[in-house]
Amino acid sequence: MEKIILHDKEFVLSITPAQIQDAVSSIAAGISSDHKDDNPLFLSILNGSFMFTADLLKKINFSCTVSFLKLASYSGDASTGIVKELIGLDEEISGRTVVVLEDIVDTGTTLKSIVAQLKRQNPGQVKIATLLLKPDAFSGDVHIDYVGLEIPNDFIVGYGLDYNQLGRNLDGIYKILPDKAGQPG
Ligand code: IMP
Ligand code: MG
Repeated sequence: MEKIILHDKEFVLSITPAQIQDAVSSIAAGISSDHKDDNPLFLSILNGSFMFTADLLKKINFSCTVSFLKLASYSGDASTGIVKELIGLDEEISGRTVVVLEDIVDTGTTLKSIVAQLKRQNPGQVKIATLLLKPDAFSGDVHIDYVGLEIPNDFIVGYGLDYNQLGRNLDGIYKILPDKAGQPG
């Protein structure tokens, strides 16, 4: 069992680099068969999706464009609480087939907000591809078109995903191990 430590937590290898590449290939095959004639715009949600985006786009062999977006959190007023605004969309998306690229969908709250913000700009269609999905946490409020792997409700890191900013560079995906008895946190 390959274990690593990030900050104060221990993680163990859960999805190997080869398994990740198989999942990316299956997503690429699905998108290719559905959208090879659509000149789609891939919208990668930073930071977590950077590795998935790079590997996926290398497996797309038809005309497409790619752009990168970020969700900026800021505190709204008392009624709105934390607002997450999608920034960086300088592309014209009206009429285009947009494929959103997410690293992971957990509850789906982030995705729901992204799709709502994109739809205001009249895209032709919005498709969603996520490398990972936690079905037990997912609200089901948004339709997800392409899923690489379904995973249990464990906290994971690697392949773009972080624990307090560490772990994004790992080429496999690691799941958190429970704290040893008696240790705080
Ligand atoms: P959601 O809004 O609950 O679907 O959360 C989605 C976002 O939470 C993802 O884009 C990640 O940034 C983060 N996230 C969810 N689960 C994990 C995890 O297990 N490890 C690291 N980040 C996660
Ligand atoms: Mg993310």
